[in-house]
Amino acid sequence: MGKIYVVGIGPGSIENMTLRAKKALDDSDIIVGYKTYIDLLKAEYAHKEFYENGMRGEVERCEKCVQFAKEGKTVALVCSGDAGVYGMASPLYEVAEGSGFRDIEVVSGVTAALSGGAVLGAPLSHDFCVISLSDLLTPWELIEKRLRCAAEGDFCVAIYNPSSKKRAYYLKKACDILMEKLPGDRICGYVRNIGREGCEKKICTLSELTNESVDMFTTVFIGNSGTKAFDDIMVTPRGYSL
Ligand SMILES: C[S@@+](CC[C@H](N)C(=O)[O-])C[C@H]1O[C@@H](n2cnc3c(N)ncnc32)[C@H](O)[C@@H]1O
Repeated sequence: MGKIYVVGIGPGSIENMTLRAKKALDDSDIIVGYKTYIDLLKAEYAHKEFYENGMRGEVERCEKCVQFAKEGKTVALVCSGDAGVYGMASPLYEVAEGSGFRDIEVVSGVTAALSGGAVLGAPLSHDFCVISLSDLLTPWELIEKRLRCAAEGDFCVAIYNPSSKKRAYYLKKACDILMEKLPGDRICGYVRNIGREGCEKKICTLSELTNESVDMFTTVFIGNSGTKAFDDIMVTPRGYSL
């Protein structure tokens, strides 16, 4: 019987991976993942066996991992960022539990809120929450409620899955909900392609964010009532008298 590592590879480049993540990949016989992430690893791990599939193939990907591990292989199931943040760790545990397989080790990675936060400066230096706008697995009403609660609690917010081809206007919908409570001049920002070629960032106000078009490779940051912009840097104070 083999084992399965669930590996968060960070935002993209090898240099943003943890040493433990790199070791898990080095020690694996086969690397399994969504096509985009496998493409990021192929140059570095050309000698390894790969299994890749597309979006919506998550459950099949987990089943394949269990199958490969039962055949005796050491498997690395890779995800971007951290495997526990909208990643493959929880579906793998659920699939593996159903087939009685237990030898799983989760290897944490740097999630987009943190790697993107570093690109913008220090936007999440006080209490923050993470909200995904994807309603594929979560009812939109619940997403709306969480946005309203975050605004009510004066949290900084990192928004994942802000948009896609089918959900092009979701970020605008989310901004409109936040603006029921928050002022239009609230400092916000976003980062596209964190740690990858073509990384770009922007700082803007919440009302300006309403008109920005972002894609699924973007993470959006909403500041709290104390967040400031220093040119293209977004800073949420800790609270020191400075
Ligand atoms: C299904 S979630 C996966 C999150 C991932 N497990 C993590 O911890 O970062 C996909 C969303 O994560 C964010 N994301 C992941 N990698 C990113 C990157 N390199 N640049 C910008 N955003 C990223 C985007 O908001 C994207 O829509």
